[in-house]
Order: sequence, then structure tokens, then C-alpha cells
Amino acid sequence: MSICASAPGKAILFGEHAVVYGRPAIAIPLSGIRARAIARDTGSPLTIIAEDLGQAAVKDYAEESDLRDPLALTAALTMQYLRTQHISGEVRIRSDIPIASGLGSGAAVSAALGRAIAALNAASIPDKDLNDLVFEVEKLHHGTPSGIDNTVVAHEKPIYFIQGNAAEFMSFGAPLRIVLADTGIPALTRDAVADVRALVANAPAEAKQILDEIAALVNEARDYIERGAPQRLGELMTVNHQLLKALKVSTAELDRLVAAALSAGAYGAKLSGGGRGGNIIALVDEDSEERVKENLAQAGAKRLILTDADAGS
Ligand code: PMV
Repeated sequence: MSICASAPGKAILFGEHAVVYGRPAIAIPLSGIRARAIARDTGSPLTIIAEDLGQAAVKDYAEESDLRDPLALTAALTMQYLRTQHISGEVRIRSDIPIASGLGSGAAVSAALGRAIAALNAASIPDKDLNDLVFEVEKLHHGTPSGIDNTVVAHEKPIYFIQGNAAEFMSFGAPLRIVLADTGIPALTRDAVADVRALVANAPAEAKQILDEIAALVNEARDYIERGAPQRLGELMTVNHQLLKALKVSTAELDRLVAAALSAGAYGAKLSGGGRGGNIIALVDEDSEERVKENLAQAGAKRLILTDADAGS
């Protein structure tokens, strides 16, 4: 018998990068794209097969000592959490979340794997504890993660997030219709985060002003999300993109996709996640959706995902 554990991708609606400096951010789960971990008890030492991540099976994860490997670290932390040193079985990872594109692939794989390993031990991990566990693994991917990815992925709920505070789950006045468009360019969040750190160190006053402007905008956006006011929310997304540009994490490709979405009638658009590549998000409605998708494809988007964000997504 096998069991399937899973976790969603995620998109940051507002506040990426600034969130690393104590400012708020808003993120949503992408329930339609998921990492899955299919576990079956084989009676042999734990084996993890992750072809979708470009990794062949690594035998005997219980003995695997290279904790710089996210899968090995997830397995080790899960066993530590379960207070066991021996888990037998096979876990096969399947993921349709693009890697290194700001959609939370790393956090989702860790969350799904942790759940699957717990299931092999006839246990389950409460979302809150899984969140803490995945955060430890996120440090490998991100260096100094804010914790937003693991939180939205582990709980699978839209969140208003400030580092160090408990996440606040959000209510939505109306669902938001969002198009994600992928530049197809993989980018490492840890590099973008490091470059922003250098900018903050070299030009602290200028950086503080940008970060504070983002914080004010996130709080305003929260209000519009709760009231269901897409027009104003879209405008704030576009302003957030300009501020991320000022932090030097945008690129010509991201700017081109944002411009394409706006010229096709999106309420607003911005890069989402670490930047330097990965995805933009555009806020649309039923009337503009098709036009926006066509324009994004023409502007070079490699993949388009449509999602409805609301408190239940
Ligand atoms: O994982 P990504 O690429 O969506 O980026 C996470 C968001 C950042 O704010 C850039 C980093 C962080 O740890 O919050």
C-alpha cells in the first residue's frame, strides 16, 4: 500500500525582499501546482527517489550524512522530530512546481517529504511543527530566509507575514484572479537576497526608504484584499514592482512581461519572489484574462498559470 503526501507551490503577492528586513509581506498558496511524495513501506532502509528534481535515488537516508542536501536534511530532521533513528520504505517525489522560479518548490518538496516520512512511521506532523522543520531546510536554499515560503506552504493558506511573528491568515473580500507568467530563467533567491543585503549595507538611507515604502504599500494592499478592491490592488502591485526594480532585483525580461500584462489590461503586475528570473504575477478579471495571457505569451512567457486566490484556496 502507498500513501501520497503533498504540499502546494506559493506566490508572493506583495513585500518580497522587504520581508527579510522585518517588513510585512503577503503570500498565497498555489494549490493547483504541487509537490507530492508517494511513500510505500518496502522493509528496506529509507530511499528517496526524486527524478523530477534531477536527483537519482540515494540509498539509506538514515545513514546519509551530507546534511547540505535538502532531502537528506529533511529526512534527518523528520526522524529527529519523530524520535526515531530507523525508518524503512521508499519515497518517490513528484513535483510540477518549476524549480528556482520563486514558486516555493524547495519548501513544498520538504513539506511533502516530511509528511510522507512521518506517514511511513504511522505518524503525522502538525502544520505548525512542519513549518518549523521546513524553515530549517529553507536555510540551505536561501541562506537567511524570512520564513514566508515555509509558512504559506505548510499551512496552505494566504498569509500576512512579518518575520518572527505568528502568521496571520487572511480574509478576502473577493477572490483574486491571478496569472503567473514564467520568464523561464532560473534564478537563485539566495543570490538576489545577498545582493539586496549589499545594497542595504552600501546605501542604507536609500534602501530604508524603499523598504519602508514597500511596507506601507503591503499594509494598504491588505486592506484592499479584505475589501475586494482589485483596481487599487493592481495599482499597488505595479508600484511594488517599481520598488523591487529600485532594489535591483528585476531584469529586462521581468520588466517586459510586466509591461505586456499592463498593456493588455491587467489591473497591475509585478515580479514575484526573489526576482532576477522566475515569475511575474498579473491581476486580471474575466474580461482581461485571455488578452493578458496572449500578450504574455507573445512577450516570451514560457509558461502561464491561472489561479484564483481567496481565503479558501
Ligand atoms: O523563494 P522566493 O524566490 O519566492 O523568494 C522568497 C522571498 C524573499 O523575500 C526574496 C526571500 C525571503 O526569504 O523572504
